[in-house]
Amino acid sequence: MEYIVYEQKGQVGVITISREKALNALNSQVLDELNECLDAVNLDEVRALVLTGAGQKSFVAGADIGEMSTLTKAEGEAFGKKGNDVFRKLETFPVPVIAAINGFALGGGCEISMSCDIRICSDNAVFGQPEVGLGITPGFGGTQRLARIVGVGMAKQMIYTGRNIKAADALRIGLVNEVYSAEVDAEGNVVKTAQEVLLAAAEKMAVTIAKNAPIAVRNCKKAINDGLDLDMDQAIVLEEKLFGDCFETEDQKYGMAFFLDKNKEKVKEPFKNC
Ligand code: CAA
Repeated sequence: MEYIVYEQKGQVGVITISREKALNALNSQVLDELNECLDAVNLDEVRALVLTGAGQKSFVAGADIGEMSTLTKAEGEAFGKKGNDVFRKLETFPVPVIAAINGFALGGGCEISMSCDIRICSDNAVFGQPEVGLGITPGFGGTQRLARIVGVGMAKQMIYTGRNIKAADALRIGLVNEVYSAEVDAEGNVVKTAQEVLLAAAEKMAVTIAKNAPIAVRNCKKAINDGLDLDMDQAIVLEEKLFGDCFETEDQKYGMAFFLDKNKEKVKEPFKNC
C-alpha cells in the first residue's frame, strides 16, 4: 500500500495514514487502502486498534480538495459514500479504535476521528469542519457525528462558522478525552515530542483494553453504539442480550472464578477470547 502503514504490535494494531506531503488528506486511493487494511486486520489476534497520521503536523487535513474540485453532483455523492462506507466500517469495527490525533483534524480528518471509539490528541491538534468555506457540506459523517458527540448547538456553531478550534477547546467540549504535551527535562529540552507522548499513551490504552475479556469488550462496543440508535426500552433489551451472551464463555467463567478464589498468591492469566 502507498498511503497506509499497518503494524501489529502484539494484540494491538496501529494504522498510520501516511500521505505527509498533502498533510494526510484523504483521496480515493487513501480511502480504498484504508478499507483494504481494515479487511486484513487479524481479528483472531488484534483486540484494539490505534489510528494516527504520519508526521508531526497533521492527523488528516480533510478530504482531498484537488480531487473534489472537478466532481459532478453524482460523483460528489459517490465520493461521500466512499468515505462514509469506510468510516462506518471503522465505527462498527468489532474491536475498539482509538484515534491518536497528532495535529490538523479538519473536515474529513475530524470526521474520521469521530468514527473512532475514543479520541485523544497532541496539544498542537486543531479541529474543525471548514467545508462551508469551500462551498460544500461536511460529507463524511460530520453533520451527524459531531452533533451526537458535542451536542447540536456546538456542532451547528462549528459547522456553520467553519471556524477551527484548538486542542484545549476540543477537550472542553468533549470532542477529545485527553490532550498530551511534549515531555521536557529540567533544562527545558524536549525529551519526547507531543506526538511520541500521544502515541505511547494511545498504545498503552489499547494494551489496557486488549487485556480485558475480548468478547465482553466487543459486546460493550456493540451495546453502546447500537443502543444509542434505540429508545431506552429497546436499548436495555439489547444490553440484556449482549450481557447474557458473555455467560458460559471461558473468559467469563475464568474472570469470575479468579475473583472468587481467595488465594492472594495467584496471578491472573490472559483472557483467551472464547
Ligand atoms: N486536500 C488536498 N491537499 C491538501 C489538503 C486537502 N484537504 N490539505 C492540505 N493539502 C496540501 C496543500 O495543498 C499543500 O500541498 P502543496 O505543498 O502541494 O502545495 C500541502 O498539503 C501542505 O499544506 P499547506 O501548504 O496549506 O500547509 P499550511 O501549514 O500552510 O496549512 C492547513 C495547513 C491549515 C491544514 C491547510 O493546508 C488547509 O487549510 N487545508 C485544508 C483543510 C480543509 O479545508 N479541509 C477540509 C477539506 S473538505 C472535506 O474534508 C470534505 C468532507 O467532509 C468529506
